[in-house]
Amino acid sequence: MEVIVVKDYQELSKVAAEIIIEEVKKNPNAILGLATGGTPLGTYENIINAYKQGEVSFKGVKTFNLDEYCGIDKKHPQSYYHYMHENLFNHIDVLPENINIPSTEGNDLQAQCDKYNELLNQNTIDLQLLGIGGNGHIGFNEPGTPFTQETFVVELAEKTREDNKRFFNSIDEVPTHAITMGIKNIISSKKILMLISGKSKVDAAYNLIKGPVTEEFPASVLNNHPNTIVIIDEEAYSKLK
Ligand code: PGA
Repeated sequence: MEVIVVKDYQELSKVAAEIIIEEVKKNPNAILGLATGGTPLGTYENIINAYKQGEVSFKGVKTFNLDEYCGIDKKHPQSYYHYMHENLFNHIDVLPENINIPSTEGNDLQAQCDKYNELLNQNTIDLQLLGIGGNGHIGFNEPGTPFTQETFVVELAEKTREDNKRFFNSIDEVPTHAITMGIKNIISSKKILMLISGKSKVDAAYNLIKGPVTEEFPASVLNNHPNTIVIIDEEAYSKLK
């Protein structure tokens, strides 16, 4: 794991965007794995700016998102479908047919997982962007998830629902389940870019970098991946100095 320590969130976002843009310039048909949450927002802003300045095009790029909440419509302002369109897709030239986000529509969620997993097996992700949960989750793979797990319906940990309630009116509105790529899907990516920012991630960063590789801390699996870059700001790195 290569660890790049940067000054602050602004620098983290700039460096992350540069790595993604380089990937797409090198391979205009790149397959990108994308993440939601607070952390990648600045990265997406930088990517949009680079696109608007004519620096990069996403016309040939395919995208796969990590996860989606169950029990809310994709038009809901907190769905990850909505998030991705608002914060990235509506502002760049990626083709709608090349965008993949797990669908949680209908009653047969297992069929939705199988369909998404099949697509992932047919498309090797070149670069997967990741955030880390306060409890070490990646995607929505909560502590205890086997490293062999493929796309599945997960019951969200209480810690995750607490962490994400800031995006909803109350904890009761935070979905209890989601569909997520499994850990096996994530580590099948050729390259992984993990972003860690802020005080709330101090312990998670420490466990990732110094802790044992264990299913109790899902992100620790990245220590077994041959091509992972961690970009971390000084605040999140403070316990590691
Ligand atoms: P955050 O979420 O970027 O909103 O902190 C990260 C995650 O839960 O994976």
